[in-house]
Amino acid sequence: MDAAAVDIHLDAVLGAEDDALRAAAERARAAGLPEIAVSPLQGLWLGLLARAIGARRVLELGTLGGYSTICLARGVADGGTVTTVELRDEYAAVAGESIAAAGLSERVAQRVGPALDVLPTLDGPFDLAFLDADKATMDQQLRLTLDRMRPGGVVICDNVVRDGRVADPEQDDASLRGIRAALQILRDDPRIDATALQTVGLKGHDGFAFGVLRS
Ligand code: DHB
Ligand code: MG
Repeated sequence: MDAAAVDIHLDAVLGAEDDALRAAAERARAAGLPEIAVSPLQGLWLGLLARAIGARRVLELGTLGGYSTICLARGVADGGTVTTVELRDEYAAVAGESIAAAGLSERVAQRVGPALDVLPTLDGPFDLAFLDADKATMDQQLRLTLDRMRPGGVVICDNVVRDGRVADPEQDDASLRGIRAALQILRDDPRIDATALQTVGLKGHDGFAFGVLRS
């Protein structure tokens, strides 16, 4: 069994993707958005993590079609909110429809614009941040995010492995430079302790960085 087939199996066993998420994925596909949202199991993990830490204020960079936004919003405590930032108007509009169809509009605040422009206008403090926007500026997004986290808060960065390219010194492009610089911040910034975990499955070989702010 390859890893993608196992993901499909586990999704079916655990019921990771329900009707609202299926509809969100279908709406995004129909609108021509790139099919790079988190997998159903990854989305469920994000939502459960939000719940596990009792997150009330969640920050997401990179709304895309709102798939992970829905997952995170389901995990926030009552009265909590997900602030989600999307570069493209068209994507944000698609996401807004899916978030509304999932009955979560009240818990989600959508912002449109480059993450680096929107972040300085956001106050925080956030309990949980999910960085899944432009990879080339992940390091700058991370710096601005760290300034807006509460002590003990959790920061997750998507796509830090990129099919293993992050570890190959021959590989170099703007995305890899941004990811590598973000990993160095996670190592060096005294405010956060972090690890990184590889993932395989429907999204191929990739990984999450996971950091916890010091208290
Ligand atoms: C890409 C971006 C993502 O956030 C992701 O999860 C997978 C791929 C991309 O830009 O290729
Ligand atoms: Mg991603």
